[in-house]
Amino acid sequence: MKIKFLISALLLLLGSHLVSANDALISPNGIKLPADYKNWKLISSSHREDSKTLRVILGNDTAMESIKQGKTNPWQEGSVLIKLVWKDSVHPNFEKATVPSEFVHSEVMVKDTAKYAETGGWGYARWLGMEQKPYGHDASFVQECAGCHAAVKENDSVFTRPSKLP
Ligand code: HEC
Repeated sequence: MKIKFLISALLLLLGSHLVSANDALISPNGIKLPADYKNWKLISSSHREDSKTLRVILGNDTAMESIKQGKTNPWQEGSVLIKLVWKDSVHPNFEKATVPSEFVHSEVMVKDTAKYAETGGWGYARWLGMEQKPYGHDASFVQECAGCHAAVKENDSVFTRPSKLP
């Protein structure tokens, strides 16, 4: 009886630990940090003067296919864009070169027109720092994202223009 109790207590503990490890990467609106984003392909890069940060924008297979087919206005359903942001720093051996230093945050946009109808057909999420802490107290944080991205509504709310390769 006692052993049975101990085992179930242990399983419960293990279970809750596993759940919290997973939950840690879920944004308050239910979007999960894509597990395989490190294998995604490059769409473009950018630099922000005001926040002194370097960014790269990557896409999942569907997003890359949308670019290839010229279907980015609107992007195809299932397209996911991720933006990775680092603080600027000066290259230690070449001071005119700006290179990334600390990781600031990652941000995603998930194209699902029906599910995210209220925010222009895109689901938004952000994770802070190396620990990838989900951003936002509750799901209403998306108003901030969608509000600013509405400035490029005529481009399906996406600022990035895929960079050309020869
Ligand atoms: C004040 C304006 C503003 C707000 C607020 C904002 N963004 Fe953006 N976002 C931009 C601009 C400008 C770019 C393009 C330049 C760059 O790379 O940063 C961008 C780019 C992106 C990209 C790459 C795709 C694209 O549209 O170019 C993603 C993904 C993204 N933002 C997600 C988010 C998320 C998630 C939030 C909210 C947590 C958010 N953004 C809030 C202005 C904003």
